[in-house]
This record gives sequence, C-alpha cells and structure tokens, in this order.
Amino acid sequence: MRICAGVFEPTFSNFWQDPEQDKGYAQVDINVSHPIKLTRLAIKKSLQRGKRASVCIIASIGGLGGSIAAPLYCATKHAIIGFVKSMTASESFTGVKVTTICPGLVHTPLFTNDKKEQYSFHENKALKPDDVARGMLDLIQKKQYGCGTVFEISMAGTRVIPEWNIAPPSAEGTGQNEAEMAAGLKALLGPIQEKLRGEMKKSKL
Ligand SMILES: NC(=O)c1ccc[n+]([C@@H]2O[C@H](COP(=O)([O-])OP(=O)(O)OC[C@H]3O[C@@H](n4cnc5c(N)ncnc54)[C@H](O)[C@@H]3O)[C@@H](O)[C@H]2O)c1
Repeated sequence: MRICAGVFEPTFSNFWQDPEQDKGYAQVDINVSHPIKLTRLAIKKSLQRGKRASVCIIASIGGLGGSIAAPLYCATKHAIIGFVKSMTASESFTGVKVTTICPGLVHTPLFTNDKKEQYSFHENKALKPDDVARGMLDLIQKKQYGCGTVFEISMAGTRVIPEWNIAPPSAEGTGQNEAEMAAGLKALLGPIQEKLRGEMKKSKL
C-alpha cells in the first residue's frame, strides 16, 4: 500500500499565515494522523486475513532538515520519519513492512504558481513523479529494504538514511550567482515578513 496524500503549507493550514484560530492544524491531520491511522488499519486488516503486507508512506527531505518557510510541513514529515523508524522491529509480529521515502523537490501540482515563485521552483531541478513511484515500488517489493527503512531520493541520487548520525545530502550547487540567491531569499521570506509586519504593534506616532 502506498500512502501518498499530503499538503504543503496550504492557505487553509499554514504556520506563518495562521488561518486556523480555534483548532489544531489540518496539515498535521492530513500529513501525520491519517497516514499513521491508515498504517494501523493495514496491520489490523493483514492480521485478520493472515496475509503479509507492505506499506510505504511518502515523507520528504524536509523531514530530515528544516525550512523557515515551511516549518509545519517539515515538522509533519519529521513525525512520519520518527513513526516509521519506530516500526523497525514490528514486522515479526504484525506481518507488515512499513517504510518511508523522502523525496527532494518533485514536479507535481503541490507546487502551485505562488509556491513555485516563493521557493524558486524550476522543473529542470526537480524529480519526476515516476522517479518517486519507482522508489516506492522498490521499497514495497524488495527484501533489501527492511521494515523501518527511510529512503532518500533527490536529484543527487538515492540513499538509505541511517538511524543515527545522518550526513547531509550530497548536492550540486544551485548554480545561482549572488544576486539570484538574494532574490531567491527575498521571494522565500517575503510573504512571511509581510504577514508579521501586519501583526506588529502599531506605532504610536
Ligand atoms: N512535490 C514535492 O516536491 C514533494 C516532495 C517531497 C514529498 N512530497 C510528498 O509527496 C506526497 C504527494 O504529493 P504530490 O507532490 O504528489 O502533490 P499533489 O498535490 O499532486 O498530491 C497530493 C495528493 O494528496 C491529496 N490530498 C490532500 N489532502 C487530502 C485529504 N484531506 N484527503 C485525501 N487526499 C488528500 C490530494 O488530493 C492530492 O491528490 C505528499 O505527501 C507530499 O508531501 C512531495
């Protein structure tokens, strides 16, 4: 089973824009609670049927690092990685292998036009959905990937993430000059700074 649904700091559940006033975060429900519950349901179903199963959840490279522009999203993906690592020894009594894949940037509708602009998204610097789908099939089907595997896939290649002491991902430089990098940072932080300016105590003058 592949668990793919997810949202990326959408307008209705967004750390910096903060549209949810009287409840928790829908983004956490969608990205964390639901995949975890679905995994539990898969275990129950497999035990009832007496059949083995394999579950692969999509996390993200954001679950290994962090992003000031997407702190809630990164937190949800860290949660999935923590959950899958915690399942490492569970297969012997559930019959279900649980793994996760951590893609870098992928060219999908998750990157709406405003997000493309904010994150300086370029199609030629992103994976294709097929790359991730193939990685998920490998994780589900191949014995070399045991329960609890955390698998990174990016433009720099693939690797299994160790439980401790994770080295930074190998990556090419962005190829941007200083001016382009400054423009990229401005685009990334602009919407956050604008929102926070609106929350500042108004000047007495
Ligand atoms: N695109 C990327 O760069 C990227 C990178 C790393 C990880 N991911 C992860 O990959 C997964 C798939 O995302 P994608 O890039 O294909 O984006 P996408 O927007 O194309 O797909 C996300 C899917 O989740 C579904 N979904 C969202 N909320 C839902 C809900 N409440 N109930 C049921 N379905 C819901 C959407 O309908 C959509 O089909 C997500 O978990 C995302 O976080 C994406």
